[in-house]
Amino acid sequence: MRIIDIISKKVENIKLSKQEIDFFINGYVSGEIHDYQASALLMAIRINGLSDEETAYLTNAMMHSGDVIDWSFLGKTIVDKHSTGGVGDKVSIALCPILASLGLTVAKMSGRGLGHTGGTLDKLESIEGYNFLLSDEQFKNIVEKHNIAIVGQNTKLVPADKKIYALRDVTATVQSIPLIASSIMSKKLATGSNCILLDVKCGNGAFMKDIEQAKKLGQLMIEIGKQLGRKIAVEITNMEQPLGKTIGNKIEVLEALETLKGNGPKDFTEIVYSSGSTLLLLAGKAKTEEEARELIKQSIQNGEALAKFKEWIIAQGGKVELLDDPNWFKPEYSHQVIAQSEGYLKIKSAIDFGLVAMKLGAGRAKKEDGIDYEAGIYLNKASNDYVNKGDVLFTLYSSKPINKELENELINAIEFSAEKHEIKEVFAKLF
Ligand code: URA
Repeated sequence: MRIIDIISKKVENIKLSKQEIDFFINGYVSGEIHDYQASALLMAIRINGLSDEETAYLTNAMMHSGDVIDWSFLGKTIVDKHSTGGVGDKVSIALCPILASLGLTVAKMSGRGLGHTGGTLDKLESIEGYNFLLSDEQFKNIVEKHNIAIVGQNTKLVPADKKIYALRDVTATVQSIPLIASSIMSKKLATGSNCILLDVKCGNGAFMKDIEQAKKLGQLMIEIGKQLGRKIAVEITNMEQPLGKTIGNKIEVLEALETLKGNGPKDFTEIVYSSGSTLLLLAGKAKTEEEARELIKQSIQNGEALAKFKEWIIAQGGKVELLDDPNWFKPEYSHQVIAQSEGYLKIKSAIDFGLVAMKLGAGRAKKEDGIDYEAGIYLNKASNDYVNKGDVLFTLYSSKPINKELENELINAIEFSAEKHEIKEVFAKLF
């Protein structure tokens, strides 16, 4: 078999066999196939696509390019939840302890943020002491003892995705539905979970800008899951505007914590309930969505979700008591954006809010960049709030002096109207 023939086949839009896809993944991971050859094949895939069957072969080959975690010693269903990434997306930090407090076992691997999207790992790392670099044994012990752990991507898992993703990033081959689906699913499957909720964010702050494309990606991931024997549900959720009232790292952790106390913002709370009830149904812990929502409500009201959050953070070494200290989040610089107009607020562009948060220091423009955990944005007013002239709209935070021009980028991303507009948190659920 020769890689040049495989590339030519895909250029001519001929289906690849399992053996050819295995040959590509094994050869690329071992270094026998070069970056320039892999780039050519990825571009042919971006242009001509892959069938569902080829995508399942690719996912399977990528998943087995490294270790696959085996949870069979626990004899339990392992649940996982993955978001394709958005602005203000702190769902996992609130949702996972709720699920664990209700008896589900959550073993999750999270990633870092890049560009305008934040990453769960960066947010958790803003809690001093939180250790996401666990050995397989530590990961398994914590999950066994506490029903929950969230760790960083282990270099032994899915090395094929690490190499391919880095190449896609610089060869205009990120935007390919089969490549996105195989990248996400290979990582989820290698973590060994058998019940997975995929939150496909849709809107201008997300990878998927359009609902039909988001559905296509969702259906494909469900199909791959079925072929590989896992239960998958997909929620397509709104990323036209930031989720919740906070964007950043420490500031988002505090909002997730408030949500676990029952004081979260409406849109964010709704996503937590919606995703949580979908997973409880998928894992067979509830028979109807109403029953599942009631379980979530109870775990928040009786304090068990909050207690589980604290137990989990402590188990991974985090100094959770610091979160109760008003000095924990104390940015040196802040700047208020004041309304010059009035009316109901509409945020037109989540991505602009994500980019401003990144410029304040909350995110990375390049992989190597550091993060300012204090940086971020608080939305004093959210979409559909009535605003009077002179009201504080947003507060920007940073550890370094704030460039006042960032204010204009937010002003250009909003508008005011005489009437409220309709906001849907969840566009569709697919099973
Ligand atoms: N997230 C991933 O993990 N992979 C992609 O290709 C896109 C989003």
